[in-house]
Amino acid sequence: MSIKHFLQFSDFTLDEFDHVIERARLIKQKFKNYEPYHPLVDRTLVMVFEKNSTRTRLSFEAGMHQLGGAAIYLNTRDSQLGRGEPVEDAAQVMSRMCDIIMVRTFGQDIIERFAGSSRVPVINGLTNEHHPCQVLADVFTYIEYRGSIKGRTVAWIGDANNMLYSWLQAAEVFDFHVNVSTPKGYEINPDLVTPGNGNYTFFANPSDACAGADLVTTDVWTSMGYEEENAARLKAFDGWIVDGEKMKRANADALFMHCLPAHRGEEVAAEVIDGPQSVVWDEAENRLHVQKALLEYLVLGRLAG
Ligand code: CP
Ligand code: NVA
Repeated sequence: MSIKHFLQFSDFTLDEFDHVIERARLIKQKFKNYEPYHPLVDRTLVMVFEKNSTRTRLSFEAGMHQLGGAAIYLNTRDSQLGRGEPVEDAAQVMSRMCDIIMVRTFGQDIIERFAGSSRVPVINGLTNEHHPCQVLADVFTYIEYRGSIKGRTVAWIGDANNMLYSWLQAAEVFDFHVNVSTPKGYEINPDLVTPGNGNYTFFANPSDACAGADLVTTDVWTSMGYEEENAARLKAFDGWIVDGEKMKRANADALFMHCLPAHRGEEVAAEVIDGPQSVVWDEAENRLHVQKALLEYLVLGRLAG
């Protein structure tokens, strides 16, 4: 039987997301009511980080503890991965000792090779190309605030990065539209978009991309791994800040999201991220709840509850 992984958003069907989202809602309720829920007793999650993290580490580690299991943190610096151990060998070993694995790394090819040698499910905790756990939390947050996301319009303002590619895949699964505005030289890589994906429209002007949006979202201009491009990016992205003027172009009840960490004055103005339309703290908290549902689903299938 093939192993179910979550390496990119398109790995799950709408039916699977509906299940995970419903479980996340119930698991969140239990958490808020201080109701113990331990379906993963004696199970172990190993988390492999090749890049920095606050939210991803914390939400997976706390989440696994709250489900009754244990979480182990490894990074490149002090594991043998940093000394050239092949990812295939690491995956063989880790998946003989643990029940589920989360990996944050550089290229998507690395996590795919890792999953190819793993006996247990592997979750993408961010690669250069995808950040599916974050977009799962974002979609969950949108649904909590506004109900179904089907038929809605999401405006993406900024870099064509891992977050955008996961949003584009989510748009296909959940049937919503993405208005994308990226500066010249930082456009979508067509190789990373499913052929025939008709769920997005490109706008040269970021303000126009916000018109009629139900959700406006952005992310850092320089993602992890691209630090040497920072000065050039600061110049190229001038004008792509999500500020009050752009939010005015969106629908009156539009939400603002940002996966964090944020740079006030660069990709987002303080008046927006700290303003009434921003749901960034719920978005961050929801990483915990959706990932607990994801861990439960990948380890136990639909048997839990
Ligand atoms: N949003 C997110 O993934 O945050 P971290 O980099 O802190 O994990
Ligand atoms: N696009 C950002 C997201 C950080 C959570 C990065 O890859 O650095």
